[in-house]
Amino acid sequence: MTSVTVVTGGAGAMGVACARVLATRTDALLLTDIDERRVHAAAEMIGQDGGATVHHFVADLDDAGATTELANYAGALGELHGLVHTAGLSPSMAGWREILRVDLIAVARVLDAFLPLVVPSSAAVCLASVAGHLGEFDPAMDSLLEDPLAPDLEARFLAACGAEPDSGAVYRLAKRAVIRLCALTAVSWGRSGGRVVSLSPGLIDTEMGRLELRQNPIKNWMAEITPVGAGRGGLDTVLPGRISDIATAVDFLCSDSAAFISGCDLLVDGGLVAAMDRKDN
Ligand SMILES: NC(=O)c1ccc[n+]([C@@H]2O[C@H](COP(=O)([O-])OP(=O)(O)OC[C@H]3O[C@@H](n4cnc5c(N)ncnc54)[C@H](O)[C@@H]3O)[C@@H](O)[C@H]2O)c1
Repeated sequence: MTSVTVVTGGAGAMGVACARVLATRTDALLLTDIDERRVHAAAEMIGQDGGATVHHFVADLDDAGATTELANYAGALGELHGLVHTAGLSPSMAGWREILRVDLIAVARVLDAFLPLVVPSSAAVCLASVAGHLGEFDPAMDSLLEDPLAPDLEARFLAACGAEPDSGAVYRLAKRAVIRLCALTAVSWGRSGGRVVSLSPGLIDTEMGRLELRQNPIKNWMAEITPVGAGRGGLDTVLPGRISDIATAVDFLCSDSAAFISGCDLLVDGGLVAAMDRKDN
């Protein structure tokens, strides 16, 4: 049976890096993104590397119908091996509603749409963030965000916030909820033998990461205190993490070597959360 690996955000920095590595491990690779031009270019480029047959599918994952079509397309290609969900928006890219929809609701929708395709070798890796690990979280908000597909979620969320929240606060809550969602979904996917994990990147040197660095001066300090620091290996990166750090971890999590790993979050942050937990660093 043809093995299929799906990468959402397949035109983005981490999506392309993950897809390139995974193309050597799967028969068919399906890249999907909202950006038609860039996902087409990414599929062509990765196709030229050799390895998997590369397909692409343009979809706005904020659209339930498009997400179902994506899952159907993947199912028609073969048996689900990997689902790597990197599609996302950062706080400086959109308002709070869009952040909630793309960074949380769409993740739940994708995991739900792919559930019928799950077989014992299927693994999903969803990108969360260190933002979902930092600071205190309100248990009432946690339980409200536990069911991202509830039809009245946005209205109840706004009511719980008390006033229009800012995008950064919603990004942090959404990423925290993704970590919890993956743990929960590991149970439903697990009934068919599949695995689900979240992966929380630290400060990674992508356009998105650099945009947030420019918008939030505190990120300079966070980059400075990241124990595995910038400039490692002599590479000239503005932020300490590299897309290859993420792609390597995703490759492992999708592989048989990770066959007993499910329902947890992997921090790939160079020790940032540990450093921030210890104020005396
Ligand atoms: N870069 C960092 O430092 C960092 C840190 C922590 C977490 N993350 C998370 O990692 C993920 C990938 O980040 P990146 O740096 O590769 O960003 P990126 O902007 O390069 O890639 C994200 C991709 O998602 C796509 N996308 C956005 N909205 C979509 C939608 N509605 N439907 C389908 N596709 C959509 C974009 O077109 C883009 O190609 C994101 O979820 C981000 O929140 C990034």
